[in-house]
Amino acid sequence: MDIPIIQLINVVEKELSQLPIGLQEHIYRTRILSRKIAESHGAETEKCDLGASAHDIARHWTENKLITEARRLGLDITEVENDEPLLLHGPIGAHWLRNKLDCSDLEIVSAVNYHTTGRPEMSQVEKIVFIADKIEPQKIKKYPELGSIMDIVMDDLDGAILRYLALRIRSILANEGVVHPRALETWNWLILKRSSCQ
Ligand SMILES: [Fe+2]
Ligand SMILES: [Fe+2]
Repeated sequence: MDIPIIQLINVVEKELSQLPIGLQEHIYRTRILSRKIAESHGAETEKCDLGASAHDIARHWTENKLITEARRLGLDITEVENDEPLLLHGPIGAHWLRNKLDCSDLEIVSAVNYHTTGRPEMSQVEKIVFIADKIEPQKIKKYPELGSIMDIVMDDLDGAILRYLALRIRSILANEGVVHPRALETWNWLILKRSSCQ
């Protein structure tokens, strides 16, 4: 039997109380914003809330712990994750939500899994969790250039994600860093989707 989302949120909240306080606060802000964005787009607020609650459950783990756990679970570890093990906190959180908490809603599991990079064909719930994580108020305070995304996110979800990806990818390129292929695929998918609608 499917466990009601509200019940899952309660279980996740118990886990959240064990996390470092700064991370708890980020997750709280992400949850509030994801609910607001969901409301403005007529999306399912509870689903977005659960995704936002669980998205960073493993964000405080050390790189060693992330790699060891990802190997143990048989998760996909490409060269990119090997170079930046922090990227594994989404897939590990998703695995926890699906297998430990028995969350059968794969849209929410996917929202947690891909919250760092996005993915082509991402659903509305996935998009909302993705962008709420990136532009919660503290992030805008730290990176004011993200403020222009807040101006459009309540009307244009895809446009907001494109604007975020453009800023992020540009900054990685400027620093000669590695762009996750999935972030580029997400960019291409949204651009092609947009041009086919025009
Ligand atoms: Fe994260
Ligand atoms: Fe986050």
